[in-house]
Parts: sequence; structure tokens; C-alpha cells
Amino acid sequence: MPNALLRMVVAVGGLAVSGAAFADDNVINLGMILPMTGPSASTGKQEQAGAMLYMQQHGDVVAGKKIVLIVKDDTGAPDVTKRIAEELIGNDKAKALLGFGLTPLALAVAPVATEAKVPEIVTAAGTAMITEKSPFIARTSFTLPQAAQPMAEWALKNNIKKVVTVVTDYGPGVDAEKWFSEPFTKGGGQVVEKIRVPLKNPDFAPFLQRVKDDAPDAVFVFVPSGFGAAFMKQFVDRGLDKSGVKLIGTGDVTDDDLLPQMGEAALGAITTHHYSAAHDSPENKTFVADFEKANDGMRPNFMAVGAYDGMALIYHALEATKGSTDGEALIAAMKGAKWISPRGPVSIDPDTRDIVQNIYVRKVDKVDGKLFNVEFDKVEAVKDPFKAAGN
Ligand code: DHB
Repeated sequence: MPNALLRMVVAVGGLAVSGAAFADDNVINLGMILPMTGPSASTGKQEQAGAMLYMQQHGDVVAGKKIVLIVKDDTGAPDVTKRIAEELIGNDKAKALLGFGLTPLALAVAPVATEAKVPEIVTAAGTAMITEKSPFIARTSFTLPQAAQPMAEWALKNNIKKVVTVVTDYGPGVDAEKWFSEPFTKGGGQVVEKIRVPLKNPDFAPFLQRVKDDAPDAVFVFVPSGFGAAFMKQFVDRGLDKSGVKLIGTGDVTDDDLLPQMGEAALGAITTHHYSAAHDSPENKTFVADFEKANDGMRPNFMAVGAYDGMALIYHALEATKGSTDGEALIAAMKGAKWISPRGPVSIDPDTRDIVQNIYVRKVDKVDGKLFNVEFDKVEAVKDPFKAAGN
């Protein structure tokens, strides 16, 4: 379907979809809740584009039912996310919810999903315990333990002995800090300082000065998608790019959306993550080309892929239930689902409803003059280690 047509069925802020459409038994409404404004607006933009591209490529009819995607802006405020979720289920009869740009936003909807028995597909947030907050949650993004642990293993094997961690101070940052530090220390490495930076209005400068004073071999970083460019700028302003301190982290800091503008300072950064726009597969080449074409050249990041796969999972479940929208049947159909994503092979762990996926080790490098996260190693079929450890 041409993108212009698709846009007509997508309503941002609840502007467009008419009430009459919902009475039709052959229409299935899906509610997508995203921060379209505020500091995580880039997540909203990427996620919406990812979901729309899936519909553009696969059509808007599944098991004989017409799919309508209703996109709403929660401005990144959890009370708004929750209220919108209730309205989407109560008024619009949405049969699944997806999106949620940050952990607190995904958590705010968990009790709503449980109460209404409506699947909540977490396509962006990454704190490990989110899926434990409702039996109706499944996740197509990633978990920070999944991405951080392989970074510790790479650092240990590559002569990095002394590290300072810098993370944003909320769920995913705390997970990243723990799941990097514990295996790194166990393997003989030393974490000399653990720094946590506020999520709201972060100023990295004083923290980066402390990193410089500590003179570690590397700084391990987690900042949420959209914050990486500010971090990099202050990294350079403090002279850390020339100090010999290596930049390592989960791939959120070298997010594909911002990476092209980060400049030479990002060159050589090593990160572990589940998606790079440079991933070398036929599925990804098509995904990137179609995404750029539909979005004025915007490069897709891991948020776009999370949403694209969130739609893939919902389409898969609706096909399996032959169009039944019973929430319990849908979530049952999601357990064990397997497909080839632009990121590589993925599946939904039937026990945890979390995604199982490859984690790639990448280095920021120039490809045709542009910065990319170039994959050079991988750990295959990684389950969330937090739950694998019995949590
Ligand atoms: C979360 C948000 C992000 O933007 C990200 O890159 C990773 C995790 C979160 O809030 O869970």
C-alpha cells in the first residue's frame, strides 16, 4: 500500500479514526502509544515509522480482518500512557497495545493489560523485569542484560582491565551497570567507579570529568536512545576522545538515528546490541531501503526494528488464531513464535515472553564515508540472562 494511503488510517493524537469504523467486526484496532514529543521523540518517530513500514510491506488485512493502527502521543509521561491505554481498550476496543518508549511507560500499562486481558507488546523498553509484570506482555525490543553481558565478555578478552561505568539512573541503566559489572569483575576485571546520571535534563560534563580523573582503560556507557549525541559532544568537550579511554557500551549510545551526526569522535567505539542498520542480510537490505524511501532518507535504528517486529508478532498471532482477538489466545500464539527479522533470526521465549536474538559486537567505522556500527562478531540466540538466572 502506498505510504500516503497508509497515513490515512494512522491517527496521531487520536485525530483521524472515526467511531463508526470500530463497530465493524471485520476491523481490528491496534493501539500504539509512543512519546512523539519530549526528549524521547526520536524513539516515537522511529517506532511509528517501523510499524507503518511493516503494514506497507505486508498489507493491512490479516486473516480476513482489516488492521487499523491508532498511534497516540503520551509525551513520555506514565500517567498519560496509562490513561491512553485505558481509552484505547475501553473506547476504541483495541485488541493489542504496542510501543512504550521508556521503561516507566511500559510498566504503567502492565496492570491495564492484565485487567483487560489485552496483549501489551513492548517494542522499545529494555528493563529485564518488565515482562514479569503481566502475563499479557511480550517483548520484541531487547533487554539490557542481554546486550550488556556480551560486552563484559568482549572487554575481558580484549585487554580491558579497568572500567568506569556511566549509566542513566533508571531501570535499564541499572540493569546495564549490573550485567556488565558482575561478569566483568568475576572474569578478573576491575570496575573502579559506577556513575549514574539523571534521566531528566542530563548533564554529562561533571561525570565525564570524573571518568577522566579515574583514567580507566574504558568507559562503559548506557544512555537511552536519543541521548547519545549529547553524551558524545560532552565526551569530546572533555577531551576524552583524545585521552586513550576507550568507549564501550550497549548499542544505545551509538544509535543509528544519531550516529551520522556524531562525528569522528565516535569512530572506534565498541558496542554490543541486537540491531545495526549495517547488518548484512537480504532482509535488512530491503528493510533499510524501504524505510529510507518511506521516510525521506531517515536511517532506521533499533527502535524502528522493535516496532516492525512488534507488528510481525501481532500479525503472526492473528494468523494463528484465524483472526480471533481473544487476548489469551493471542498471547498463547505469540509464545514460541519464530521469524527472520531485519536483525537476524528471532523467537519469543515461551516461558518468559521475551525475545531471543543474536547479540552482535560492533565497531563504529566509516562505510562509504558515513558512520555505521559495523558488526564483526556475534553471540547467537541470546536469552535474557536476568530470567535465565532464575529471577
Ligand atoms: C529504554 C529506553 C531506550 O531508549 C533504550 O535505548 C533502552 C531502554 C528503556 O527505557 O527501557
